[in-house]
Amino acid sequence: MKIALGSDHAGYQLKRQVMDHLHKQGIECEDFGAPNAVDAASYVPAAVAVSRAVLEKRADYGIVICGTGLGISITANKHKGIRAALCTNEYMARMARQHNNANVLGMGARVIGSALAFSIVDAFLSEPFEMGGRHQVRVDEIIATEEANFK
Ligand code: RB5
Repeated sequence: MKIALGSDHAGYQLKRQVMDHLHKQGIECEDFGAPNAVDAASYVPAAVAVSRAVLEKRADYGIVICGTGLGISITANKHKGIRAALCTNEYMARMARQHNNANVLGMGARVIGSALAFSIVDAFLSEPFEMGGRHQVRVDEIIATEEANFK
């Protein structure tokens, strides 16, 4: 499994902690910036780079982190085919996969601590999508909505 990660300066430290956590499990990671926690950096380029990596299948999933997780998740969701889910607990992470087939996990470094972030990441990466049922119908509706609204 390969994970694409991106952050702004506010999410940098948690992103690196999450990368260490994933490396310990033998999961390959690619960091699409920001490069440090010191220089103020927009979350937009990182969200774009992670989303493209997922859409082009250079990564299985994306993880995006900013201060709140909001800006970077909103930006990721501007890409056709990306379903980015901002999660603040393990239950949301499980449901994001099981019901929404989310392919990008968003988190807020100023909202949650690293221990909770690790359990959210583990839940997100281990939970399968519930194929074939009513949630498949909902996700197909999301895809149809994209088709109707994205240029
Ligand atoms: C940066 O100060 C902060 O605005 C950003 O990390 C994020 O929370 C925006 O949504």
